[in-house]
Amino acid sequence: MSTPKLSTRPLKGTRDFYPEDMRLRNWFFGKIREALELCAFEEYNGPMLEPLEIYAAKSGVELASEQTYNFTDRGGRELSIRPEMTPTVARMVAARINELTFPLRWYSVQNFYRYERPQRGRLREFWQINADIFGSDSYEADFEIISVAINLLRIFGADESMFRVHINNRRLFGDVIASVAKTDAEGVKAISKVIDRREKIERVEYENELRMLGLGDAEITKIDSLYSMSLDEIISLCPDSKGAAELGELFRTLEATGLSKYCVFDFGIIRGLDYYTGTVFEVFDLAPENNRAMFGGGRYDNLVGLFVERNDISGVGFGLGDVTLENFLRTHNLIPDLGGRTLVLVTRFDDVPYEKYTAILSNLRNAGIAAMIFFGSKKLGKQLEYASKAGCTHAIIMGAGELAGGVVKIKDLGTREEQVVEYSRIAKYFGK
Ligand code: HAM
Repeated sequence: MSTPKLSTRPLKGTRDFYPEDMRLRNWFFGKIREALELCAFEEYNGPMLEPLEIYAAKSGVELASEQTYNFTDRGGRELSIRPEMTPTVARMVAARINELTFPLRWYSVQNFYRYERPQRGRLREFWQINADIFGSDSYEADFEIISVAINLLRIFGADESMFRVHINNRRLFGDVIASVAKTDAEGVKAISKVIDRREKIERVEYENELRMLGLGDAEITKIDSLYSMSLDEIISLCPDSKGAAELGELFRTLEATGLSKYCVFDFGIIRGLDYYTGTVFEVFDLAPENNRAMFGGGRYDNLVGLFVERNDISGVGFGLGDVTLENFLRTHNLIPDLGGRTLVLVTRFDDVPYEKYTAILSNLRNAGIAAMIFFGSKKLGKQLEYASKAGCTHAIIMGAGELAGGVVKIKDLGTREEQVVEYSRIAKYFGK
């Protein structure tokens, strides 16, 4: 009796990336990397494990306590598998705060783990592009980050019919809620948590939670009315708010630069993470089947200050996940045919010395043409069948006759046509 076999399935919420999946991921991350480098961002990286406390401090209860994979290591340390990059990058900036030149612009492409219920757009392991600017508290850096975010979708051919950037400002939000609910910063924080979940919980529960925080019917109705107000109407409620000035400047610049068609003011955008202090935004896919935020970000003033006695280095940035991006690209038909690279199989016959074939292989590779050689001894037909199945575009055939004549046959496996090519012109045939 055979022993039971182990499962071949990856853990729930995680994915295996077979070569065709990697081709897709490398393609979209490759394009994003290129675009970010053009926008003068530099790549950094950090560890997969961090002390739990760096999330517990500022990321918020939901992420740090409910969604993070936490464990105690053999040395008794409380660790987390990173659920996000922002605390790590803030730590790295803090560690070199006296050497770095600000404003600095960094990006990373990393994987993260969150213990969430797997569903469309949400998995337990996902990749994120993070792009952040540190050391400028001007609205200009907020504008730059939002325009970079828009650009990252436009490079794939996306237009304003496909996505929308919803923008708000935590300072303005806080000032407006404080004035409506007549409460202080702590009160605003508690109320924001409830408001942030208003789409996810029943109306009765939402109202009950607000009542428990001391709000009456009049305040709850007033809060409801905020969501349909224009930016100008909201600003008129708290004209002296620093957030009102920031948001006003930001929208004026978006308008002046032609980017406002991608953007909308949305008082409902708060963002779940605690560390945001100013501009916050989320990018939504307009396709109804992808109804959650595709990516999001914002400004955070106090994260670097968790690690060093400095409160002058503010950051602003976003995290863009691969799962939601892939859904977006698929839904809007923005993925081109990703085949297309030349791949050559050098076939072989037993009566020609093996090293004659390895010489062709080396020549191809030296010329920058991807190539491999057939292992073992099989009929030519079998070798060509393997070549086609393995994704080769061409096969090189050289029997004793061709060898003596200083030529090879190159078979195009798409058209099945064969051409006799001089040995010295093989690379030329492939345009090299
Ligand atoms: P976040 O909103 O938690 O922000 O995540 C940003 C994006 O990461 C989401 O919009 C989504 O694309 C992706 N994402 C998050 N969780 C999952 C999941 N379970 N499965 C698939 N994709 C997911 C942050 O993480 C901030 N640290 C971003 C940031 C950078 N803010 C400033 N700089």
